[in-house]
Amino acid sequence: MRGLLCVWLFGFAALSMADAPIPKGAFANSACLACHQQQSAELVAAWRESAHAATEATVSCVDCHGNTHSNAAARARRDSTCTDCHGGEGGPVVHSYTTSKHGVLMRLEQDEWDWRRPLALANYRAPGCAYCHMHKGNHNVSASVRVWNATQGIDATERERVQDTMRAVCQDCHSPRYITRLFDNGERMLDIGRMKVREAAGILEQAENEFSVVELAAAREHFAKMQSLHLKNLYLGIGHQSPDYQWWHGQPALDGDLLRIKGALGELRRAPK
Ligand code: HEC
Ligand code: HEC
Ligand code: HEC
Ligand code: HEC
Ligand code: HEC
Repeated sequence: MRGLLCVWLFGFAALSMADAPIPKGAFANSACLACHQQQSAELVAAWRESAHAATEATVSCVDCHGNTHSNAAARARRDSTCTDCHGGEGGPVVHSYTTSKHGVLMRLEQDEWDWRRPLALANYRAPGCAYCHMHKGNHNVSASVRVWNATQGIDATERERVQDTMRAVCQDCHSPRYITRLFDNGERMLDIGRMKVREAAGILEQAENEFSVVELAAAREHFAKMQSLHLKNLYLGIGHQSPDYQWWHGQPALDGDLLRIKGALGELRRAPK
C-alpha cells in the first residue's frame, strides 16, 4: 500500500514538473498568484511591473480571467475584458479604438473568430485591446505605453521603448515600411499638438503680469482642458489609428482651445478698468 502511494506521488510530481494538468475548481486570487508564481514566474513578474499591479487599484488575475480555468484565456482576450475599466464605450480610450478601422472590423466580425487562439501571428484578422497591449501573452501592459507630459518634450528613449514593442505587434499584419511611416507621421502630429499647448502656456504666462488669478480663471480652464482632454485625444487618435480622434477630437479641438484662450484674454483687455 505504501509502495503504491509512493509510485502515485512520484508520478504526480513528475507530471507536474513536465506538463501539469490545469486544476479544476474556483480559486481566490491569492491562490492564482501562489500557484502561477511557480508555474509561470516570468508572466507574474511582468504583471507586477505593469501599471495593473503597481497602482492602488490592483487589476488582479481574476479581474481578467475569472475565478476558474474554464475558458480563462479565451475570455480574457476579448475587448469586453478591458473596456469597462477603461472608461467604457463612451470614454476616449475605448471610443478612439472603436472609431478605428481595427475597431470597426472587430465589431463586425468578432463573433466569428476562434478566441482560443493566442494573440500572435495574425491569428485574428484585426487586433483588439489585448492583441496590441498584451501581445504574445506579455502581462506588462506598460511596455506598450509611454510616460509623457503635455508641455515637456518626449524622451527619445521612452518613445523608442514603446515603438519597439508596438512595431513587433503591427508587423504581424502590416509591412515594416508602412509602420515606420505611420510612426513618423504620428510623432510629427503629436509635436504639432504639443506646440499648440506650449503656445497657450506662453500666452498665459505673459497674461499673469496683466491680470489677477480670478480674472484668468476662464482662460486657465480652457488650458486645463487642452492638456487633459484634447491633447490626450490626439495622442489616443495616433496610438489607436483613429482619424476621428486625430482630426476632429484632436487637432481642431486644440485650435479651438487656443482661440478661446486668446478670446478670453481679449475680452479682459477690452473690459473697462
Ligand atoms: C494549483 C495551481 C493553479 C492554480 C491555483 C491556478 N492555476 Fe492557472 N494553471 C495552472 C497550470 C498547471 C496551468 C497549465 C500550465 C500553464 O499554462 O502554466 C494553468 C493554466 C492557466 C491559464 C492558461 C489556460 C489556457 O487555456 O492556456 C490561465 C489563463 C490561468 N491558468 C489562470 C489562472 C487563474 C486566473 C487562476 C485563479 C483563478 C489560476 N490560474 C489558478 C495551475 C494553477
Ligand atoms: C479592473 C479594472 C481593469 C481591467 C479589467 C483592465 N484594466 Fe488596464 N488599467 C486599469 C488601471 C486602474 C490602470 C492604471 C491607471 C490608468 O492608466 O488608467 C490601467 C492601465 C492600463 C494601461 C496603461 C499602462 C500604463 O503604463 O500607463 C493599459 C495599456 C491597459 N491598462 C490595458 C488594458 C487591457 C488591454 C486590458 C484588457 C485585457 C485591461 N487594461 C484591463 C484598470 C483595468
Ligand atoms: C489585464 C488582463 C489580464 C490580467 C490582469 C491577467 N491576465 Fe493572464 N492573460 C490575459 C490575456 C489577454 C491572455 C492571452 C494572451 C495571449 O493569447 O497571448 C492571458 C494569458 C494568460 C496565460 C496563458 C499564457 C500563455 O502564454 O499561454 C496564463 C497562464 C495567465 N494569463 C495567467 C495569469 C495570472 C496568473 C494572472 C495574475 C498574476 C494574470 N494572468 C493576469 C489577460 C490578463
Ligand atoms: C492597434 C493596436 C492597439 C489597439 C487595438 C489598442 N491599443 Fe491602446 N494604445 C496603442 C498605442 C500604440 C498607444 C500609444 C502608445 C504610446 O505611444 O505611448 C495606446 C495607448 C493606450 C492607453 C494609454 C492611454 C493614456 O492615457 O496613457 C490605454 C489605457 C490603452 N491604449 C488602452 C486600450 C484599450 C482599452 C483598447 C481596446 C478598447 C486598446 N487600447 C486598443 C495601441 C493599441
Ligand atoms: C492582427 C492584424 C493586425 C494588426 C496586429 C494591426 N493591424 Fe492595422 N489593420 C489590419 C487590417 C485587417 C486592417 C484593414 C485593412 C483594410 O481592409 O483596409 C488594418 C488597417 C489599419 C489602418 C487603416 C488603413 C486605412 O487606410 O484605412 C492603419 C492606419 C493601421 N491598420 C495601422 C496599424 C498599426 C499602427 C498597428 C500596430 C500598432 C496595426 N495596424 C496592427 C490588421 C492589423
